[in-house]
Amino acid sequence: MSNRKMITAALPYANGPVHIGHLAGVYIPADVYARFQRRLGKEVAFICGSDEHGIPITIRAKKEGVTPQDIVDKYHEIIKKSFSDLGISFDEYSRTTSKKHYETSQDFFKVLYEKGKFTEEISEQYFDEQAGEFLADRYIVGTCPNCGNENAYGDQCEKCGSTLSPSELINPKSMLSGNVPILKDTKNWYLPLNEYEDFLNEWIIEGHKDDWKPNVYGQVKSWLNDGLKPRAMTRDLNWGVPVPLPNAEGKVLYVWFDAPIGYISFTKEWAEKNGKDWKDYWQSENSDLIHFIGKDNIVFHCIIFPAMMKAHGDYIMPKNVPAFEFLNLENDKISTSRNWAVWAHEYVEEFPGQQDVLRYALLSSAPETKDNNFTWKDFQTKNNSELVGIFGNFINRVAVLINKDFEGKVPEGDINAPELEEISKRASEVKNFLENYEFRNALSAFMNLARFGNQYLQNEEPWKTIKVDVEKTKHTLFIGAQVAVALGNLAEPFLPFTAQKIYDIFNVEQLDWTSLENSKVLIEAGHQIVEKAPLLFSKIEDSVIEAQIEKLEQTKQNNKKTNPNANPMKEEISFDDFAKIDLRTATILEAEKVEKADKLLKFKVDTGVDIRTVVSGVAESFTPEELIGKQVMILLNLAPRKIRGIESQGMFLLTTKPDGKLSFVTPDDSNVENGIEIG
Ligand code: 2FM
Ligand code: ZN
Repeated sequence: MSNRKMITAALPYANGPVHIGHLAGVYIPADVYARFQRRLGKEVAFICGSDEHGIPITIRAKKEGVTPQDIVDKYHEIIKKSFSDLGISFDEYSRTTSKKHYETSQDFFKVLYEKGKFTEEISEQYFDEQAGEFLADRYIVGTCPNCGNENAYGDQCEKCGSTLSPSELINPKSMLSGNVPILKDTKNWYLPLNEYEDFLNEWIIEGHKDDWKPNVYGQVKSWLNDGLKPRAMTRDLNWGVPVPLPNAEGKVLYVWFDAPIGYISFTKEWAEKNGKDWKDYWQSENSDLIHFIGKDNIVFHCIIFPAMMKAHGDYIMPKNVPAFEFLNLENDKISTSRNWAVWAHEYVEEFPGQQDVLRYALLSSAPETKDNNFTWKDFQTKNNSELVGIFGNFINRVAVLINKDFEGKVPEGDINAPELEEISKRASEVKNFLENYEFRNALSAFMNLARFGNQYLQNEEPWKTIKVDVEKTKHTLFIGAQVAVALGNLAEPFLPFTAQKIYDIFNVEQLDWTSLENSKVLIEAGHQIVEKAPLLFSKIEDSVIEAQIEKLEQTKQNNKKTNPNANPMKEEISFDDFAKIDLRTATILEAEKVEKADKLLKFKVDTGVDIRTVVSGVAESFTPEELIGKQVMILLNLAPRKIRGIESQGMFLLTTKPDGKLSFVTPDDSNVENGIEIG
C-alpha cells in the first residue's frame, strides 16, 4: 500500500460552466475519494485545473467575437468558484495557460523529441484558403462515413460516437468560413502508439483485469484489439502551447498532449507553494496515481498519456482510472448547446447553504456502471425523506434531548455496548466500498448507520423513559451521541458542510478513520455540547421544485422546432450589426456557365447602384437562359471574393427546396425597381 495518493480529476474545458453531469461523473466522487484518503492519513495531492486550449475554446471565442484568452479567463473563474462553493477540496486548481504549464509541457515534448520517440510525418491536411489556416479536428465538419450525420466533426461523430480523422469526412466544410477546404502538405510530430501495444497489453490487459472497472478495461481492450496507429502530437493552430522546436512556427502541442501534462504542472505549482517534492507523487513507487474521468476520456488516460509517460521514462503508471458513465437530466441527455443542464453556479445561487443536498443527490445517482438519471422530484425526495427525515432528524433529536434532560452534557452509558460495534462495522463497510470506488454503496452504508440510529431511538423512546427510568435514558442518549459523532465523521467525505455542523453541535474535533473502526467510545460522558443545535437540513417545498421543472420546461419550449430539419438559430446579432447589411432588389442581365465548374454560373446584374459581376453556385438548379431577366435579391456590400479566378461582387439570396434544388428569394411584387433597399 502506497503512502501517497496522486489523485487527478479531468481538466474541464474552460469554454462553459460546469453542470451536474460533470459533478456526478467526475468531481464529487473524486472529492469524496480524496477526502477519504486524507482521513486514512495518506499524503494526498488532489489536482485539477482548467483545460484552456483546444478547438472548443477557439470556436466559442470566434462565435462571441472575442479572443480565446477572454473566453478562458471568464470561464476559469466561474468554474473555479463553483468547485470551491461545492466543497471540492482540490489541493490545487490551476490552468493550462499558466507559465509553469507551458514550461512543463514543452520540456516533456523536448525529452521525447531528443530521445527520438516521435516520428516526423508530412501529411496532407485540410486548409481553409480564405482564413489562411489549417483545419484540425473540430474546425472541420462534414458527413460521417459511418452513420450519415451531416454535422460530424473532424475528430469525432457525436451521433454514432465513432472516432474520425478529417480525411474520412464526406463533403468536408470549414467551420471558419463555410468553404470547401483544400488539401495542403504540413509536417507534424507523431507518437507511434503501435510501438506501445505490447507494453499496454501487459500492463493493463494482463495486469488490471480484476481491479479496473469493466467499462474501462473493456474499452481499452477493444482499442488494443483493433490495433493502435501513430497519432499526431502537434497541430497547425495558433492557440495552444507552441511546439518548442526551431522551424515549428504556427504549430502547437495537440491539446490532448498538453492537457494531461497539466496534472504534472499543477502538482509542481502546489508542491512549490507547500514545501513538497512533486517527484514524490509522480516518479516514486510509493505513490498511487489515480485519474477520475468521464467515459469519453478513457482512451486518453489509459492509452495515450501512459504511452507518453512510458516514452519519457521517468513516470509511474496510473494505478487505477475510475471512469464514470453519463448522467441524464429528466431522462434527456445533458447538453450545453441546448442549455439542458443544471448549472453548478446557478444551483449554488438558487439553493444557498444546500451544497450537501446536491452532493448527496448526485452521489446517490452517480453513473458508476451505467448512465443514470437526475430528476428534480427525486432530488426533493432524497432531501425530504432521507436527509431531513432520517439523518437530520436523528442528529437533532439526540442534541435536543441531551440538552433538555442532561443540561447539554453527554450522559453516562455502557462503554462496551454492542451498538458501538454497529458503528465500526459501518465505518469498515464505507471504507471498503470507497477503496473500490463504489460511491453509491458507500453512501448507502453510511445512511444505514443513520437509519440504525433513528430506529434505535424509536425503539428505546428516551422521551418516554426519562419519566420512569433515568439510568436507561442516560444509556440511550450516550449511545445516541456516539452514533451522532460517528455519523458526522463518516459523513465528511460525502457531505463536508454537514459534517462540520455536527462537529460544531457536539463540540468535537474530526477523528481519523481508524478510530471509527475499533468499537471505542467517540465522545466521552460529561462532554458539553452546544445548547442550540441548528437543523442540518430543511424541507424543500413543492413550489421550489416546480420552479426548477418550469425552468427546464421553458428551455424545452425554446428548443422546440416546428421543422425538425431546421438548423438551430445562429448567435444573436445587434441591430447595429444588422444595419450594416445592404440588401437590394436587382435584375439578372446576363448568365453563363463557368468553365470547368459544374456548379457555378457567372452573372451580370443590374443592382440599381451599378452593374456588377456575381458568381453563384446555382448551375445544378437552373439553366443560364431561364434566369435572364429574373428579379432577385442581392447582398450588395459583401466583400468581393475570387471564385475560379472571377471576382464575385455580391451574393444572391437563395433557399433550398425539399428536393435539394435551390430557389431564388424574389420580391413579392413583380416589377419592383432595381436598387430598392430591403429591411
Ligand atoms: O473532455 C474534457 O473535458 C477534457 N478537457 C478533459 C481533459 S482531461 C486531461 F487530460 F487533462
Ligand atoms: Zn456517425
